[in-house]
Amino acid sequence: MIHDARGRFLGQLREAVDQGSLVKLTLGKPDGRDASLRNLFVRPVRLKSGPRLAFVWRHATKDVTKNLSYVEALAQLEALIGADFLDAHLFTEAKHAQLETGSGKPRLRVTQVASAPAAASGNDREKRRVVAPQAPWLHALGVTDDRGRPLAPMNDKFRQIDKFTEILGHLVGEAPLPTDRKLSVYDMGCGKGYLTFAASQLLGQRASVRGIERRADLVDFCNAAARDLGFGERLEFETGSIADTPVVQADVMIALHACDTATDDALAKGIAAGATLLVVAPCCQKEVRPQLQPPTVLSGAMRHGIFRERQAEFVTDALRAQLLEWAGYRTRVFEFVSTEHTAKNTMISAVRTGTSGATDAAAVRAFASFYGVRSQALATHLGFALE
Ligand SMILES: C[S@@+](CC[C@H](N)C(=O)[O-])C[C@H]1O[C@@H](n2cnc3c(N)ncnc32)[C@H](O)[C@@H]1O
Repeated sequence: MIHDARGRFLGQLREAVDQGSLVKLTLGKPDGRDASLRNLFVRPVRLKSGPRLAFVWRHATKDVTKNLSYVEALAQLEALIGADFLDAHLFTEAKHAQLETGSGKPRLRVTQVASAPAAASGNDREKRRVVAPQAPWLHALGVTDDRGRPLAPMNDKFRQIDKFTEILGHLVGEAPLPTDRKLSVYDMGCGKGYLTFAASQLLGQRASVRGIERRADLVDFCNAAARDLGFGERLEFETGSIADTPVVQADVMIALHACDTATDDALAKGIAAGATLLVVAPCCQKEVRPQLQPPTVLSGAMRHGIFRERQAEFVTDALRAQLLEWAGYRTRVFEFVSTEHTAKNTMISAVRTGTSGATDAAAVRAFASFYGVRSQALATHLGFALE
């Protein structure tokens, strides 16, 4: 039972391992079957083969050490805690939890650590971070080094992951998502899974997160990392194209930098599945560019390629936002990370309101016609005739 003292202790242990905040775990009061056994000490270590938990079995006259993957370690600890060892003491960066199962009803005491050490270097910038740089998945994905420091070429990626997690946390908090069941979250065109892992860490057991990616090598890599780090069934990756992936139920649909019309495929999948929250950061808006016929007054400006490119981005994303409103979503468009870190930084978030038509069909058509756009992938998916 998840609500009992032992269940809660195991939940906190699992969370600390997931988030990379485990400092150490000490098991005591062995059940006496092995008369020489005193304690078991567990702490995280980073080996060449990846992050592991080091188990030190302390006997009267010797120590026995074993390094286990997170999955193996958590499975063993679950069997040992409250059985072979009656007491367990968990130390994380933020709290201490002490479980006693010896006599009577198991008891759990949790105390917050007065001043939890900040991530890595401990400066203010790091304290503000949403994603702990020591999270083992960041190391497994090559974002941080073996001491939890963002690797220089991945600094921008780390900031993007951190900012994305912060924004997703706010959006999930505001959106009227179901609370009586597990959330179904899709990350379409998930690439190496940076944001998929981030979403899974943010939402924990509350959500089952699926990354969809057409490159099988990335999918295999992500599934192996998720398995190795003990994410279990709550984080899985599938090879496939966004358009062909059957989505029966989706509460949150994410697609960041899924190129060109792949963003529209993801939005359409989310809308068809009745998703409450859609979060996309479009890129490579190529589809409408050859169609654009801006008013004559702009023709001088549009001699410049960069303006044509920016105009294509603006028209495509503005059209998407209006179509989403027409389809019954309250939509926001904003910069999600500074342009200093990536030029592809426009994010569209949309929350389902159930009442369609905040932007009416005539307004959407007038906008498309002003720029000469006759066809656009999201409009096509929604069966919306632009002319
Ligand atoms: C620029 S990467 C972005 C990865 C990830 N979303 C991120 O922001 O870190 C785009 C990824 O989307 C994948 N992709 C593009 N179009 C796709 C489609 N139609 N179906 C599945 N995957 C797609 C590409 O293979 C690539 O890995």
